[in-house]
Amino acid sequence: MLARRIRFVADSTLVMTLVVILWGAFVRASGSGAGCGAHWPMCNGEVVPRAPSIQTLVELTHRLTSGLALVLVVVLLIATRLAFRAGHLARKAAGWSLFFMITEALIGAGLVLYEKVAHDQSIDRGAWMAAHLCNTLLLLGALGLTSWAVRRTDPPRIEVRGRAAILLLTALGSMMLVGVTGAIAALGDTLFPSATLAEGIRRDFEGSAHLWLQLRVLHPFVASAAALHLLIVAASFLRRPDESTRRLAAQVGFGAVTQVALGVVNLLLAAPIPMQIVHLLAADLLWLALVGLTASALSSGALSTGAEAAQPAISFQTSAMQATTSTTTTKT
Ligand code: HEM
Repeated sequence: MLARRIRFVADSTLVMTLVVILWGAFVRASGSGAGCGAHWPMCNGEVVPRAPSIQTLVELTHRLTSGLALVLVVVLLIATRLAFRAGHLARKAAGWSLFFMITEALIGAGLVLYEKVAHDQSIDRGAWMAAHLCNTLLLLGALGLTSWAVRRTDPPRIEVRGRAAILLLTALGSMMLVGVTGAIAALGDTLFPSATLAEGIRRDFEGSAHLWLQLRVLHPFVASAAALHLLIVAASFLRRPDESTRRLAAQVGFGAVTQVALGVVNLLLAAPIPMQIVHLLAADLLWLALVGLTASALSSGALSTGAEAAQPAISFQTSAMQATTSTTTTKT
């Protein structure tokens, strides 16, 4: 019962955070980042703005939902501390989730207070966007790891060693790089929207093109190379004895191909807002699958070979199993 509740809290926090991230992309794409002026945490200098504009409502909704996500992460941290012994990965991952949720809020506050929002075309806005995107991925990764770890009754230990670790860490790094180039492409699309692909390409190659327009050209190439890398990584884990590792490897392979297809559609349609949100959602899900694959493939059970490694992770399936396993791993 307790295990099921913790899983629910972990999954709800992850889903809520995903919604906040997608809404954040909508704030950027709809030019609503200055909806509360250069005020944070107040909105236009007021706690509850009177006669708010659409932009204010969009920005305020982002702030309120991110506040709720922060509360959920705190609840998750308390729940994992109550349920698992010291040193269990679920406790550590929930702690990292809170850390990255706080840094996410601070970067968001910085964007508002330094006015790196709406129509700001300054060069350092790109650095802010890149930092925001990297932190978002780290936050999602920590939450995904928490959701994965709370399902493990055997205290999971991740061992970063060997060829598997090199493959997976480079894949995580290349996804992060793709995310940064994507964030720059998204900034270019927001600041200099084009009605058609042809118009967009013409503007990108004009001599006087803004830096973001010149750089957005990189994203499809970097992303395609990274997708190939992900496919190779996924293929190398498809024959693992552990069923969960194989499933996650298949998800990474499928996700990489789907994401490239979505990217092409996004480009052909000149990145309309709904397509931007779908593309970001698919990127986040792909990242979560890759984090899951990394955890699963590098966890101590999966690293060992033979019959022992072929056993699926014990899960909180039945109350009988729960009773047997909880005495060994969770606090009583
Ligand atoms: C592994 C594959 C890919 C990943 C992980 C990825 C990821 C991303 C991310 C994270 C963003 C930023 C979204 C935002 O901040 O709102 C983005 C933007 C973008 N991507 Fe990709 N992408 C991939 C492949 C592609 C490909 C192959 C293309 C084109 C052929 C493409 C076209 C675009 C465009 C046009 C944008 C800017 C508009 C927007 O925000 O959606 N992407 N991508």
